[in-house]
Amino acid sequence: MIHPTAELLFDHEQIRMDLLRQRAFNLRWASVDPGVIPLTAADPDFPCAPEIADAIARYAQDRYLSYAPAEGLSFFREAMAMSYNERKQVNAKPEFVIACDSAAFGIYTVCKAFLKPGDEAIVFNPVDFLFKHSVEAAGAQATLLDVPLDPNDPIDMDRLQQLITPRTKLICLCNPLNPTGKVFTRGELEQLAIIAEQNNLIILSDEIWSDIVYKPSTYISMAAIAAAEQRTIVVTGFSKSYGLAGLRAGAILAFNQTHFDCLMEASGHRSTVHGCNVLAQVAAAAALTEAGEWLNAFVEHLHRMRDFTVNSLNELPGVRCHVPLGCYVAFANITDTGASSEEIHRLWLTEAKVAVVPGLPRWFGSRAENHVRLSFATSATILEEAFDRIKKIQAL
Ligand SMILES: Cc1ncc(COP(=O)(O)O)c(C=O)c1O
Repeated sequence: MIHPTAELLFDHEQIRMDLLRQRAFNLRWASVDPGVIPLTAADPDFPCAPEIADAIARYAQDRYLSYAPAEGLSFFREAMAMSYNERKQVNAKPEFVIACDSAAFGIYTVCKAFLKPGDEAIVFNPVDFLFKHSVEAAGAQATLLDVPLDPNDPIDMDRLQQLITPRTKLICLCNPLNPTGKVFTRGELEQLAIIAEQNNLIILSDEIWSDIVYKPSTYISMAAIAAAEQRTIVVTGFSKSYGLAGLRAGAILAFNQTHFDCLMEASGHRSTVHGCNVLAQVAAAAALTEAGEWLNAFVEHLHRMRDFTVNSLNELPGVRCHVPLGCYVAFANITDTGASSEEIHRLWLTEAKVAVVPGLPRWFGSRAENHVRLSFATSATILEEAFDRIKKIQAL
């Protein structure tokens, strides 16, 4: 039985298609031909929580939009630390939180802070392209660790050990893992902590998806593993849980003064070359303090959409899809269709008018080939229509 709030907030009627077609870019409604359903970039089709819009309006009405402190507004930093401590049982301190303009910039800042040319960093394969991009932007080299495509399978820790050299400085952890939907177990995080300690590595823990975890799985932050806390930097954001991608808001959580100073230096915030704008911080703080009910209802809705999406994919000839434990993307193996991911992408786009993300190495790494990724952060009506269309062409 779905909670009435989830039913109401995430009903198809809530979606403003006219506004999405004007405002949702990055491979989505405003970037595709009319008539195409874009199950592409992971960005919800629903409007954000009303509490967030109210907070932005209240702040803007005062008509003072002055510079914020370089590390972020104190109420944002407090809200971030408090919400992390309550929800994820970590010991985050507001004075070590940095507001930044997106999780993407958070990842980049951590790489810039802890890597120099000639260094190496462990990056999963497959994973979102941002990690390899940021490691290389810092002049370092990404060493790719193949991770299981089935989210229930464990990471091969022996293989990880083998890949570490004296030049390795950083492990890039993406938990939950986009695109496979893996949620790391406490045991796996503890093993990672031991390996990081033995090799004196920093752990960049991207936790942007950490609120989107489906029962009975539970989320454990890398920073909640006591042995790893002092070598962990958490990066998180507001695009996935709260649908605020266009605000470009994010946060970096350090756990000691040395790391905080190093991150501030790398961020470019003190020179005002970069920084998180005040309205984004106001919105993000409201999300953390006032939109908890909305978020719970969103996850409840997504749980139903996940089940529908995975079942529908598995009914298509030649398509196999594991059930993601976290994230709102389905990562479907299309090997048995005999077509490449780009061919499936093109076929579904032209014949069914449904856009998905092909598993190209530039998006997710080489192990994503023979896969397509679909976002299911939309209404049941839109997903049903998308799969009706795909089923029709599969039947041709
Ligand atoms: C794992 C991961 N990290 C970071 C990001 C980027 O988030 P933001 O919009 O805050 O830059 C994404 C977006 O898809 C993601 O999947």
